[in-house]
Amino acid sequence: MQEKKYKFDTLSVHAGEKVEKTGTIAPPIYQSVAYPYYSAEYAAKLFRYEIEGYMYGRMDNPTNAMFEERIAALEKGEKAIGTSSGMSAEFLTCIHLLEQGDNFVTAGKIYGGTNQLFSVTLPKMGFKPKFVYEPEKLENWENEIDDNTKFLYLETPSNPNLFIGDITRVAKLAHEHEIPLIVDNTVASPALQQPLNLGADIVVHSATKYLSGNSTCISGVIVGKSDFINGIREKEYRNIGPSISPFNSWLLLLGMETLSLRMEKHSKNALAIAEFLQEHSKIVSVNYPGLKSHPQHELAKKQMKGYSGLLSFVTKGELEDAKNVLNSFQLIIHTGHLGTTKTLATHPAFTTHQQLSQQEREEIGIPDTMIRMSVGIEDIEDLIEDLDQALTKIK
Ligand SMILES: Cc1ncc(COP(=O)(O)O)c(C=O)c1O
Repeated sequence: MQEKKYKFDTLSVHAGEKVEKTGTIAPPIYQSVAYPYYSAEYAAKLFRYEIEGYMYGRMDNPTNAMFEERIAALEKGEKAIGTSSGMSAEFLTCIHLLEQGDNFVTAGKIYGGTNQLFSVTLPKMGFKPKFVYEPEKLENWENEIDDNTKFLYLETPSNPNLFIGDITRVAKLAHEHEIPLIVDNTVASPALQQPLNLGADIVVHSATKYLSGNSTCISGVIVGKSDFINGIREKEYRNIGPSISPFNSWLLLLGMETLSLRMEKHSKNALAIAEFLQEHSKIVSVNYPGLKSHPQHELAKKQMKGYSGLLSFVTKGELEDAKNVLNSFQLIIHTGHLGTTKTLATHPAFTTHQQLSQQEREEIGIPDTMIRMSVGIEDIEDLIEDLDQALTKIK
C-alpha cells in the first residue's frame, strides 16, 4: 500500500496491511518465535542488519510489523516499535537516550506510574529526573536544562489533571539545546493530536488505552525517526526483551480501525459530562480541556482536533464524600484504567497516584477529593443519570 497518499481514516484501516501477500483481508496472527534463514549468508547479513528480514520473535514479528507500520503512519513518524506495555515504551526510550550521570527535564504533571519510573527506578541507574511543577511557564523548563540534559518529556493532556503542554514551544526549546522532545500521546491518540507534526521528536503511547480501545491488551509503542527506532530494536529491545505479543498487535490492528470514530464519540460524551458537572452544586471544579474555563483551552483548541474522553473533577465535602460517589455508581465502572469504550472512574490519590506522597500530589494538583473519569461511548443520557444519582451521596 502506498501509504503517503492516503488520509488518516484510510490509514487507520489499511496502513501496514499485506493483503496480497497474506491472502486475507483481516491481518493474520503470525504466532511464531522463529523464521527460516534461507542460507548461512542470509543469516549472517540479517544479524549484521544489512538486509531486512525477521530474526527472532523477541526482536521482530510480521504481525507486530503490521501494527508498527500502521501506528507510524497515523503518528506521521518514520518507524515504530511495539512494546509489552506503555511503561516499557517509556523505559526503553529513556535508557536509550541516557548514560550514567545524565539528567532529563519532565513536566511534573504526569501519570503516577511514569512519575515512579522517573523518580524511583531511573535514579537507581544513575539517571536524574528534573521535575517542572509549573510546566505552562517555559522559563521553568529552561532553568532546569544543563549540559547533561538529554531530553525533555511532556505528557499532554496529562493524567489526571488534563494539563495541556505547548508541544511546539517546548519542542523549540529542546531543539535550541540540541536535545529531543518526547511526548506521551496516550490521552489524545493520533486521531486528535499528532505531536511529531507539531515539532516533537519521539512519541510514546500506552497502547493499552485508546489505540486498542476496548480493554483487551496491555501494550505500548514508540514512534520516531528510523535511526532512533532501529537503535532501540538493535540494542535495548534485543537485550532486555520487552516485546509486544503478536496477538496484542493483532488486537491493536483491529482497534485502530475505529480510532477516529471512537475518539469523536469519547470527546462528545466527555464534553457533555464536563458541562453537566460544571453546573452541578456538589462540584468544586472540573478539569477538561474542552471547557472554556480550562486554563489552556485555547492551546488545546490549537493543537488538538478534539478534547478526548478523559476528565477529572473535585467534589465538595470530605474524602468520604468522594468515596461515596465512587461506591454508588451503577453503570460507571470503578477502576484505574482509561481510554476504553466503557465509562470508568477512579480516585487518583488512592489508586493511580497513590505511590506519590501527599505533598507531591498537592504540588501537581491532585486533591483527595478528585475523581478521574474516562468517558466511554455509551448513551450520554444513561451516563449523566448514573453520575447524577451518585453525586446525591455528597452531603
Ligand atoms: C498517560 C499514560 N502513560 C503511560 C501509561 C502506562 O501504560 P501501561 O499501563 O500500558 O504500561 C499510562 C497508564 O495508565 C498512562 O495513563
